[in-house]
Amino acid sequence: MSGSYPHTRLRRVRATAWSRAMHRETILTPADLIWPLFVTEGEGVEQPIASLPGVSRWSVDQIVVRAKEAVDLGIPCLALFPHTQPERRSDDGKEALNPDNLMCRAIRAIRDALGDSVGLLTDVALDPYTSHGQDGLIDDAGYVLNDQTVEVLVGQSLNQAAAGADIIAPSDMMDGRIGAIRDALEDDGHINVQIMSYAAKYASAFYGPFRDAVGSRGLLKGDKKTYQMDPANTEEALREVELDLAEGADSVMVKPGLPYLDIVRRVKETFEVPVFAYQVSGEYAMIEAAVAAGAGDRDALVLETLLAFKRAGCSGVLTYHAAHAARLLNG
Ligand code: PBG
Repeated sequence: MSGSYPHTRLRRVRATAWSRAMHRETILTPADLIWPLFVTEGEGVEQPIASLPGVSRWSVDQIVVRAKEAVDLGIPCLALFPHTQPERRSDDGKEALNPDNLMCRAIRAIRDALGDSVGLLTDVALDPYTSHGQDGLIDDAGYVLNDQTVEVLVGQSLNQAAAGADIIAPSDMMDGRIGAIRDALEDDGHINVQIMSYAAKYASAFYGPFRDAVGSRGLLKGDKKTYQMDPANTEEALREVELDLAEGADSVMVKPGLPYLDIVRRVKETFEVPVFAYQVSGEYAMIEAAVAAGAGDRDALVLETLLAFKRAGCSGVLTYHAAHAARLLNG
């Protein structure tokens, strides 16, 4: 009989729950989650976003309640995005520089209520403020101008840092913006304000619900392919990351998430720096649609996908499922 049975049975260690727990290589905790939240005007306001079922825009007072929830759940950081009123949008997106804009008011309100108990990551790009929905300033042909846009993004970053942002997260994909923002932050004395660059951000079809959430979908003409990356490319992602690190980024992000885990892995292995991924709005919507169609169990899908990010090498994940996932993880 000897030799007719496998000596190595990989199923042995899988046979019981305690053994599976003991051999688990990757652990997901609430501290791995960054919770994106959409801010809107008013008081006591909740506006559900149809294309993002289960996600709402909240007025500043309600955002503070969400922030308290995050602290209670052990979520270390929030990512804030404003839904700017149409009358405050313009060609040049100058509302981004207003020290009393929605974003700055939300930052100050959370800071007043919660001090340093939660991190605040703020998106830098002009699309929530422009009347054309592009992330930067455009010329007559609609081309997004690089260097002129970077100047505005520097002002936007300083505005957010002055309001109390902890992590500046440029999502615009202009060349040279990380170095310019870093210099300006240093000059202004914000030496401990971090930069998490959206370093490898792809021109993706998965951003649709987000554009509804910030109110830019109907405004956007054309696409963002002259600045966001071609989904076909990997080498270019490494060059983007290398430049952003050289320019002073503290951490880098890959976006979207699940379809781009190969990029996460390659960036992590190449640079050995903190890598984050954004499980974007379309990915969230896909899971919710699958659940609604009876194709899967929400809790299991959420935890499995988030674990996959960690396994691929992420330090953390931006996800609209953050609060739900943290509740599950806390038992
Ligand atoms: C804008 C920005 C986008 C997202 C984050 N910042 C959309 C875009 O680039 O058009 C997408 C996030 C998501 O889909 O959840 N600069």
